[in-house]
Amino acid sequence: MSARQPVQNLLDFIDASPSPWHVVKTIEALLATQTPAWQRLDETAKWTLQPGGRYYVVRDDSSIILFIVGQKPLAETGFKIIGAHTDSPGLRIKPNAASSADGLMRLGVEIYGGPILATFTDRDLSLAGRIAYKNDQDQITGMLVKFDQPLLRLPNLAIHMNRTVNEEGLKLQKQTELPLILSASAEEQLPQAYFSALLHQQTGIAATRILSWDLAVYDTQKGVFWGAESEFYANSQLDNLASCHAALQALLDNADLRPDSTRVCALFDHEEIGSQSNKGADGSFLPDVLGRIALATATDGEDYARALAKSFMISSDMAHAYQPNFPNAYDPGHKVIVNKGPVIKINANHNYSSESVSAAMFVDWCEQAGVPYQKYSHRCDMPCGSTIGPITSAKLGIRSIDVGNPMWAMHSIRESAGVLDHDYMIRVMKRFFAAP
Ligand code: CO
Repeated sequence: MSARQPVQNLLDFIDASPSPWHVVKTIEALLATQTPAWQRLDETAKWTLQPGGRYYVVRDDSSIILFIVGQKPLAETGFKIIGAHTDSPGLRIKPNAASSADGLMRLGVEIYGGPILATFTDRDLSLAGRIAYKNDQDQITGMLVKFDQPLLRLPNLAIHMNRTVNEEGLKLQKQTELPLILSASAEEQLPQAYFSALLHQQTGIAATRILSWDLAVYDTQKGVFWGAESEFYANSQLDNLASCHAALQALLDNADLRPDSTRVCALFDHEEIGSQSNKGADGSFLPDVLGRIALATATDGEDYARALAKSFMISSDMAHAYQPNFPNAYDPGHKVIVNKGPVIKINANHNYSSESVSAAMFVDWCEQAGVPYQKYSHRCDMPCGSTIGPITSAKLGIRSIDVGNPMWAMHSIRESAGVLDHDYMIRVMKRFFAAP
């Protein structure tokens, strides 16, 4: 299956990226292998941009915007933007996380976004994220950290003590029943000191110099293909690293080395908690970068407004594939099926940014790319999720659409999707970037 290689690349991308901070690091490593070269821009420095130049900006280690400067003036072409998010829902380690009792040490966690908590039980969990420490020059510095081995676990209660689990579902009390078991060998030590020593071992930074951290719990199990003909794949974080990866592949395509229009790929942290932060889609990151591209290409205020009026954004986030065991969870006229193509998400209340014109434009790009597409509308009697699409298009005043590939088990620690759809999405995104 020729669609298999892009999915293998996606699985490798996810396995190398167990936290949003690692996502950005993985992307930087990928950019370093590319020709023509990509140049990192610093937000505190002055920018000099060349037509055809390839640049990226990172804000606080976990949001990244990449762009290729077009040959034509911005006012003539507008920006062509694809947006997605780098974060996934899950568990995060609290500041004073470690506690010890009955010969067992545990780490307390906070819930980040809306994970399906029951899926975190009995998995080979570990930790990834970043620490902030004081270096030898007394400067505060960040460093990524990742434990490779399974370090943590949330063992289920045996059915003998939870007889109704199959009738009532697994319910976990969020404060008392989520702490993760870390060790049985820590009785004589203070638990915080024990955990600090672990961080020291992993990073080489003295425990007294580690002043703070952002640590996510991740699943060490690697991605797989599954199904009788390997037509499906599974991994953690498909929402929304599958969209990030598709957008990147479309942007890195070298078929058109010096495009007319400026192509932008904006990958934000903090979507799962509402996007309101300095690096989220509801923050200033994208408007700042677009404004600075305009300044650095000598685009005046009116021409910048003209450019925005000409711009288009595809907001890509995963969609809910039909699961035949639960037919009543879906609107009967809007069952979207894995391996049947990208999904256009439509919501009259604008939880999705799609409008008839933007949807029609996307349909047109699908048809030009030879890619099938589907349309999704949520059941009226269930609350609908949202994405970065409405937020970003409202902030910038640009036309936008919400799309995404169909997947099962959104916000489970192990999500799955169809192999064909990833290649389809990359193809239609390439078509969008190449559109006049
Ligand atoms: Co998402």
